[in-house]
Amino acid sequence: MFWHPFTVYRAWTRLYGSPTVREGICILLHDWGYWGSSEMDGANGMRHPEVGAALVGVLLGDAHRELVLLHSRRYAREHGRAPSKLCWADKLSIVYEPNWFYIMRARASGELDEYRRQALNWIGPDRSDREWLLWVKRRFAKTALMESRALLAALSQEKGKMHKCYGSGVFSGPREKPR
Ligand SMILES: [Fe+2]
Ligand SMILES: [Fe+2]
Repeated sequence: MFWHPFTVYRAWTRLYGSPTVREGICILLHDWGYWGSSEMDGANGMRHPEVGAALVGVLLGDAHRELVLLHSRRYAREHGRAPSKLCWADKLSIVYEPNWFYIMRARASGELDEYRRQALNWIGPDRSDREWLLWVKRRFAKTALMESRALLAALSQEKGKMHKCYGSGVFSGPREKPR
């Protein structure tokens, strides 16, 4: 329950610096939708961000609700949205998993065979589970670093535009008449 959020926390810190308390709560709750859901990839699994997002929405408001809701790339794509910052921290989190611990859990849950089958085009069955995991870590880290940088650049550009608009008076609203 706390291990995955802990690795996501470390990944967030690597990508964006220390999270705020509110962001920390989002990190803690983002996968609560998996509780009681038997499938990771089926329809229930696909909608897993909704539980944490609803909770966070009540506690912290819309911006943080979206941070959690769009942490799943698949969910974001299905809804025509861009993934949130949390998505890339979630992706990078695998890098903070000790190899033996990750492989042990993936074997125990039966997911390891499925994951390896999905990656057969890139890494053959003759390679060890450890080699496969190192390959996955490299791949995920590359994507997470690239995408998070692009997202931060887009966000700061948006901020810049807002500043300009405020500065030019577009959003300054009605002014009181001088008396
Ligand atoms: Fe998730
Ligand atoms: Fe997650």
